[in-house]
Amino acid sequence: MRDIFLYKADPVRGAEWARLFARHAPHLDFRIWPATGAPFADAAEEARVRFLAAWQPPADLAALPNLELIFSVGAGVDQLDFSTLPPHVPLLRMVEPGIVGGMVEYVSLAVLAIHRDWQSYAARQRARQWQAIRVLPAASRRVGVLGLGSLAQAALAQLRAFGFACAGWSRSQHTIAGVDCYAGAQALPAFLARCDILVCLLPLTPATRGILNAELFAALPRGAALINTGRGGHLVQDDLLAALDSGQLAHAVLDVCEPEPPGPEHPFWDHPRITLTPHVASMTQPEMAVEVVLDNLRRHAEGLPLQGLVDRGRGY
Ligand code: GLV
Repeated sequence: MRDIFLYKADPVRGAEWARLFARHAPHLDFRIWPATGAPFADAAEEARVRFLAAWQPPADLAALPNLELIFSVGAGVDQLDFSTLPPHVPLLRMVEPGIVGGMVEYVSLAVLAIHRDWQSYAARQRARQWQAIRVLPAASRRVGVLGLGSLAQAALAQLRAFGFACAGWSRSQHTIAGVDCYAGAQALPAFLARCDILVCLLPLTPATRGILNAELFAALPRGAALINTGRGGHLVQDDLLAALDSGQLAHAVLDVCEPEPPGPEHPFWDHPRITLTPHVASMTQPEMAVEVVLDNLRRHAEGLPLQGLVDRGRGY
């Protein structure tokens, strides 16, 4: 009897995972959690489930007593309630080149759009105005990234290549060539004071929920711009609206919101200085995700360190 690899997330991409597993890991019985009911005939079948990849795991994980690894299909794990996951089963977040590449594209696009006044030109075109705004060199624009994980580091490498003056802030000290790295709460004001464009790429944890608030906005240079590709929960929405109204912030690009989608009357939809996209900055690419998952299965079998292992105490 083959071990079962259970997948419970977007079924369209799941079908691609199934084809890839059939080709590259035929020794595993790959199952997609169906829209209705549980996919197992009986307890004997449930006992064969060794691996789970999910955005939201099944409610009753105790029914899968032999689970050895849980994979989040996303880079984030904040959607998971850790208290419902068996504590002894390693939890892995998805770090694959497709997610990283997508994030680099989105952050570059948003930073360049702000740097080159794309939003103003869209308004001027609608008003039939042929009117230039002075072009500033990238080196004169100070970009800062909150969070220095793998996505942030890849985005910073691209921003540096454009010539932006780059800095990053995180909980613990990092050293990254060409990036001014700040660490810890006491260094946050100094970091913010040099951010004309602030990008949030933090994991969402109790410590970072609501970090994008009035106090933080006040510490930015007047007229700064915000890009949030973290989570909606990082942002205090009323504080953002107030900062845009007062001119403290000039523009915000938001890929995430809480809740998603925002209700039809939500002020973000038609705010002239908010660009809103539906959580699409980056998506897990099945081909590369399956490669990373299979590599982790091999590492697990050989007792080697796992890639993307989540520290549940830290929350990411
Ligand atoms: C998407 O937001 C992810 O966590 O991959």
